[in-house]
Amino acid sequence: MLARIMRKYKIGAMAIVPLFMFAFAHTAAAQGKAEEGQKIFDVNCAKCHGPDGSGDTPIGKAVGAKDLRAPEALKLTDAQIFTQIDQGKNNMPPFGGTLDKAKIEDLVAYVRVLGKKKAPAKKAG
Ligand code: HEC
Repeated sequence: MLARIMRKYKIGAMAIVPLFMFAFAHTAAAQGKAEEGQKIFDVNCAKCHGPDGSGDTPIGKAVGAKDLRAPEALKLTDAQIFTQIDQGKNNMPPFGGTLDKAKIEDLVAYVRVLGKKKAPAKKAG
């Protein structure tokens, strides 16, 4: 679809890239701050999810904390991550009572940063 529009209007890919980058920078700025999120994560979340989001901690393994860098986690929308932190799910406790909305948004931003860090390559299959 995009390729067809680009051909039709003779727009090069390089002309489109800065548009996306601008749109992304713009939305990111409107939301939580990942640096703040990291501090909150280390205090509240790392014991289960691990400082790297892997979930590879003794408690994390015991409760089945998910790898925040896994493909399923990357598919979650910001709103879904927010709700998960706010209300909890199964073995994950809700944080809505202890963390305010701004702090949860900072955490969402940080979960996104963790997600961008590559999980160790798994063997195919
Ligand atoms: C007591 C351990 C525990 C703590 C503390 C904890 N989590 Fe979780 N988390 C879990 C478990 C267990 C799941 C899997 C829930 C399920 O779907 O069954 C999970 C799932 C998630 C998911 C969804 C991942 C996916 O792929 O569905 C996100 C996002 C998440 N946690 C973020 C956080 C953040 C941010 C914090 C800190 C505010 C946090 N968690 C604290 C145990 C924990």
